[in-house]
Amino acid sequence: MATSAQSAAFRALRTPAGRRLLDSIDPAEVDADPLGAATRLRRAAPAGAPDAEPGGGPDGEAGVPHADLVTAALTQARLRGRARAKFGDLAERMYFTPDGLEQATRRPVAEYRARRFAAGVAPDTLVGDLCCGIGADMLALAAEGLRVDGVDSDPFTAAVAEANAAALGLSGRVRVRRGDAALTAPGDYDAVFCDPARRGKRGRIFDPHAYSPPWGTAMDLAQGASAACVKAAPGIPHELVPDGASAEWISVDGDVKEAALWFGALYDVPRRATLLRGDGRSPATLTADPGLGAPPVAAPRRYLYEPDGAVIRAHLVAEAAAAVGGALLDPHIAYITSDRLVATPFARAYAVDDVLPFSLKRLRSVLRERGAGTVTIKKRGSAVDVEKLRRDLRPSGPGSVVVVLTRIGDRPICLLCSEVTASP
Ligand SMILES: C[S@@+](CC[C@H](N)C(=O)[O-])C[C@H]1O[C@@H](n2cnc3c(N)ncnc32)[C@H](O)[C@@H]1O
Repeated sequence: MATSAQSAAFRALRTPAGRRLLDSIDPAEVDADPLGAATRLRRAAPAGAPDAEPGGGPDGEAGVPHADLVTAALTQARLRGRARAKFGDLAERMYFTPDGLEQATRRPVAEYRARRFAAGVAPDTLVGDLCCGIGADMLALAAEGLRVDGVDSDPFTAAVAEANAAALGLSGRVRVRRGDAALTAPGDYDAVFCDPARRGKRGRIFDPHAYSPPWGTAMDLAQGASAACVKAAPGIPHELVPDGASAEWISVDGDVKEAALWFGALYDVPRRATLLRGDGRSPATLTADPGLGAPPVAAPRRYLYEPDGAVIRAHLVAEAAAAVGGALLDPHIAYITSDRLVATPFARAYAVDDVLPFSLKRLRSVLRERGAGTVTIKKRGSAVDVEKLRRDLRPSGPGSVVVVLTRIGDRPICLLCSEVTASP
C-alpha cells in the first residue's frame, strides 16, 4: 500500500515536468550507479522551482518536494527496465508498482487472450476487469476494441492502471476505479475478466481458496456473467474447474504461464493447451480428443518426446502421443517414445542413443567413454537430486549428451539422448 506522499509524487510524475524528469533518466545509468543518478537528479531541480537547492524543496508541481519526485521517477525508471522482459518496448511508456509488475500478465499472453475474448463477444462489449492490477490485461482488451471498466482494491494500483490507459492512448475505452470485486455485480457488465491476486504479504499463494478474491468468489463472478474469463496459476487442480468452463493452459516458449478458464459465450472445448512463442509466431493449440483412449505403453524406441508443460498440465499427453504415433514409457509418466521423428510443436524430440538401468557408476563411465563434458539432465518420475548428480558425474570432454532420468514401473532407468529437430 503506497503512502499519501508516494501517491502525490506519482501524480506529480504524470505532469509535464514529471514526465520530462522521468524521460531524462537512463535506466542503464540507474543500474550502474544508483546513488550517482539520484544525486544528479536531486541537484537538477526544475526551472522555476521555488527551492532549487540540493535536497530539493517544493517544485511548484502539485506541491511535491523535488526529492520525492526524483525518488518516484527513479523507482519508475528501474521498474520500466525490469518490465521490458514482460512488455517489450511498451514498458518505456508504462507505469508500474513492484507488486503490480510481478503479478501482471506478460504481453504475448495478454494479447492472445484479449484476441480470443474479443472474437467471442460483440464489438464494443463492456468488460469488467475485476482485479485490474496495473492493467496489463485491461489494456490488451481495450486495444482489441472492447470497453473496459477496471476495478482494483488498491487505490495506488488503480491510479497506476489509469495512468497506463492514458499513456497508451486508451483512456477513451477504459475507466478505472478503486473497488472490491467481491461487492461487484457481474450483471453490471456485458462480460467479466478476473485475475485474482495470487500474492499476499508472505509471498506466493498456492491455495486458490486463499486468492484475493477467493476462488469461490471468482467462480461466482464468472458464472454470473454472460461471458467471462478467469486467470489462475497453472497448477490449478482440475477438480476446481467447474462444469461448463473451458480450461486452457498457456505456455510461452515452453514455460507454462497460467491457466485461463472461459465461461458462457466464451466456452468452446473442455480442455486445451495453447503454446505461444515469444517471437510472435502464431499459437499452436491442442484440444482434448474424446474418442482417444489411454495411450499405449512401450519400451524405449528410437525417439523420446518430452511434451510441452501446457500439454502435460492440460492432461493432453495421450493427444500428443497420438500426434507422433507414440506410446508412453510408463503409464504414469509424461515421456513419449516413438520410432518416428515427427515435427510437432507439442513435444520436443530427442534421439535415443542408449538406455541403461540407472547407476551413478555406470553413467559416469559411459559419459567418460563418450567424452561428454556438456550434460543436460532431465527427469520425470525420478527422485535423483540433479545438482548432486551433476557434481558426482564430474563431466569433461568436448561432447554433449542429454541424460533423461525416469522409471518404468519401479525400475529407475536412464536414457542417453541427443537433440534432434524434425523438419516440418
Ligand atoms: C494478479 S493482479 C492483476 C493483474 C492484472 N491482470 C495485470 O495483468 O496487470 C490482482 C490484483 O487484484 C487486486 N485485488 C485483490 N483483491 C481484490 C478484490 N477483492 N477486489 C478487487 N481487486 C482486488 C490486487 O490489488 C491486484 O492488483
